[in-house]
Amino acid sequence: MVKLSIVQFTPSFGNKQHNIDQIEELLSGNQADIIVLPELCTTGYSFLTKQEALDVAEDAGGESIAFFKRLAVKRKALIVAGFAEKDGDKTYNSALAALPDGGLRVYRKTHLFFREKLCFEPGNSGFFIVDHPLLDCSVGIMVCNDWRYPESARSLALMGADVIACPSNLVSTLWGIGMPARALENKVYVAVANRCGAETRTLEDGSLQNLTFNGGSVIYDFNGTPLAQAGKDENSVLTVEITPKLTRDKSFNAFNDLFKDRRPDQYSLE
Ligand code: ACM
Repeated sequence: MVKLSIVQFTPSFGNKQHNIDQIEELLSGNQADIIVLPELCTTGYSFLTKQEALDVAEDAGGESIAFFKRLAVKRKALIVAGFAEKDGDKTYNSALAALPDGGLRVYRKTHLFFREKLCFEPGNSGFFIVDHPLLDCSVGIMVCNDWRYPESARSLALMGADVIACPSNLVSTLWGIGMPARALENKVYVAVANRCGAETRTLEDGSLQNLTFNGGSVIYDFNGTPLAQAGKDENSVLTVEITPKLTRDKSFNAFNDLFKDRRPDQYSLE
């Protein structure tokens, strides 16, 4: 058994230390083996320009990275959390995986959403999985809008993910249809950590951009059934016990196997 937590809260835009303090408080006493937090959870979401994102983005020495690395070692947990990453003069909408042995991996969001395209570079890390160093469990990472591209979850599942961690800042409700499908079609657990609250920014033409994030963070089992789900608008830490090895036999009857039955020679995906 592996304990898996998702964290839902309302980050305050541009207020990194406050957000780190909120996360620390929400996780006090948490004993999960894997913890998933929302996209851009230490900065907030609604950047309007590359420069705005660059001003708060972090390279390897950044405060969010240091905080999550410390927490992962202290709690012996694998922590997946979205943050704004800086590499030279480029910014990425990234998710880190901080490991209990002090290791760190960074995934850069592949499929940018809406105005993110004005502020971040398209991710170039590719999809990858991370093995929990203390447990038999492999975690794949995708970020929010990656859900709309089934190739994201499929790539992670084919690599051997038992769990897909999906830090999110979801503003529609359509993901409630797509996200469980990603679990079912790949026979993996899917952990969606969404944020709640709203952000209002004034655009260049003086109009207001108001984004409301719809919470509802959820952990799906490998048939796409919710094991735990948060409300729309409240801080929540939800924890479930999962059995990663149950995801590894991809057969669903005596004749069918999700992966062995694939027919790549019949597909046209380019
Ligand atoms: C999203 O990708 N933040 C919807």
